[in-house]
Amino acid sequence: MPVIRLDKYISERSDYSRSQIKSLAASGKIVVNGAIVKKSDTKIDLESAAVEVCGIPVSASKFRYILLNKPDGYVSSTEEHDGISVMQLIPPELRKKGLFPAGRLDKDSLGALLITDDGELAHRMLSPKSHVPKIYLVKLDRSFESKYIDIFADGIKLSSGEICLPARVKAVENCDKLAFIELFEGKYHQVKRMFAAVENHVEKLMRLSVGGLILPENLGLGQCMELLHKDVENLFSPPDFDRFCADYVGYFSAFMLNNQ
Ligand code: URA
Repeated sequence: MPVIRLDKYISERSDYSRSQIKSLAASGKIVVNGAIVKKSDTKIDLESAAVEVCGIPVSASKFRYILLNKPDGYVSSTEEHDGISVMQLIPPELRKKGLFPAGRLDKDSLGALLITDDGELAHRMLSPKSHVPKIYLVKLDRSFESKYIDIFADGIKLSSGEICLPARVKAVENCDKLAFIELFEGKYHQVKRMFAAVENHVEKLMRLSVGGLILPENLGLGQCMELLHKDVENLFSPPDFDRFCADYVGYFSAFMLNNQ
């Protein structure tokens, strides 16, 4: 059976340093498989150990995956240059060294943001070769026009001259200022610039999905949930756009219309 030192196991999966782990163990705060372990250099079974620190289970996964419903006013970076970092929203029990937001949402954008310390997965997810689509719901200043469907499908040219990959867009039924849009790339302010190129304006933008990771309706703004590695692999099995729009229209449309 593969074994690992207890302090290495915990420090790789939490924000605790080895010296903190040593003193926590000495004071009886670390439990492995139901029994207090006082020596932090004890070897434990890597695959089956259930470890708790101060009564809180340590995630067995080496990497952490957190889905955040990003609120307005937070920046998608680990630094605090332009505002408060989304990292401030992570509850203490999920914090860990090396976490970063995989991908960006603008400071005023809302919705699904994956935060992880798995650089390989983030790279795979963000690589254009993986074709991971992202679906956004936007609130527009002016009514949606059906001509947008073909213009976006053909690959719209932005005012900068950049050409976008073909994208799908769909108005929300009975609500001509709300639309879903699906992108396979992530240029700077892309959704806003695409609607600006058809002389409309995005007033509010919420990302509802990243590949097959879908923002749950019960995850409030500013809330986080830990995902398992197997859930994260869903990233690479995205939903069908039309089906998604039909399934998610109710709750999120009401949210976009009612929350300023
Ligand atoms: N497109 C935008 O314009 N803003 C975002 O935050 C994401 C996509």
